[in-house]
Amino acid sequence: MVDFTNRDIISIKDFTREELEYPFYLTDYFKEKAETHEQLHLLGGYVLCTLFYEPSTRTRLSFESAMQRLGGRVITVAPAQLVSSAAKGESLEDAVTVMGQFADIILLRHHEWGAARRAADVAPVPIINGGDGANEHPIQVFSELYTIQRVRGQIDGLEITFLGDLKHNRCIRSLVMGLGNYDVKLNLISPKGLEMDPEIIAMFRKEQVHETNDLDEVLPTTDVIYMVRVQVERYASKEEAEAFKGSYRFDMSKVRESKKGLTIMHPQPRVDELDPEVDSYPGAIYWRQSRDLVFNRMALLALILGKA
Ligand code: NCD
Repeated sequence: MVDFTNRDIISIKDFTREELEYPFYLTDYFKEKAETHEQLHLLGGYVLCTLFYEPSTRTRLSFESAMQRLGGRVITVAPAQLVSSAAKGESLEDAVTVMGQFADIILLRHHEWGAARRAADVAPVPIINGGDGANEHPIQVFSELYTIQRVRGQIDGLEITFLGDLKHNRCIRSLVMGLGNYDVKLNLISPKGLEMDPEIIAMFRKEQVHETNDLDEVLPTTDVIYMVRVQVERYASKEEAEAFKGSYRFDMSKVRESKKGLTIMHPQPRVDELDPEVDSYPGAIYWRQSRDLVFNRMALLALILGKA
């Protein structure tokens, strides 16, 4: 029996395939409601706190949009390190304990690996991990599995290629772990030095994962390509990050070399690795991917707050 009531969402590893897919139908339902601009009142009387120690566009605002579409209210602390008592030396533990007096649920983004788990250990209300350093971004995965399933019809059987900074991108780390629940084949392509964590690769059967530096080799068989930028903020120095700039790029010439019907995903923001000319290709679904975040988050908020 799946039950999300009062649950924290900290790591994708805490969820079974059944649980990851449980919000799919509710996401469809909220999508339909949002398309007709019906104001819902399901979360009237509830407050979401978005507590952000790192920059964000999609994660914070899609949650705020989701909460407001459900009739709930939002209080925001961003950038927390500047505008909250963190600037006076308050700990993360104390910050979430006090925010839990003001709000019924907290969406947290923090630069430290493991921060979400630390917060959940003390917070009086559920914590949703909106990214903890280079570790995880589980709620992105809830939504992306939904988007892939709805666009492709099924996830099992797909060949999915990940391209970019596989070492530091938390969306990819969480998504690859989530895909461990499926019968998929993965191609992992990164510049030398930015390879995926071997511990995550070890979750798969040997024949399921192919690591390479050669994008052209896998394009003719890839069903879905998922790209990310170089995570410049995770490097020791700007120079170190700069060395990887421009080391991979996807444009229409790559689309033409690809398997027919290729689906292109990117959690965004993009910088220079994905040419905007690709936007008009019908298989480029990254704007839809962002839009689906709102509906999937409506579903998760309603489930965690015990209203669905
Ligand atoms: C990502 C993040 O912050 O982890 N964006 C997102 O939440 N959609 C990816 C990134 O910053 O590159």
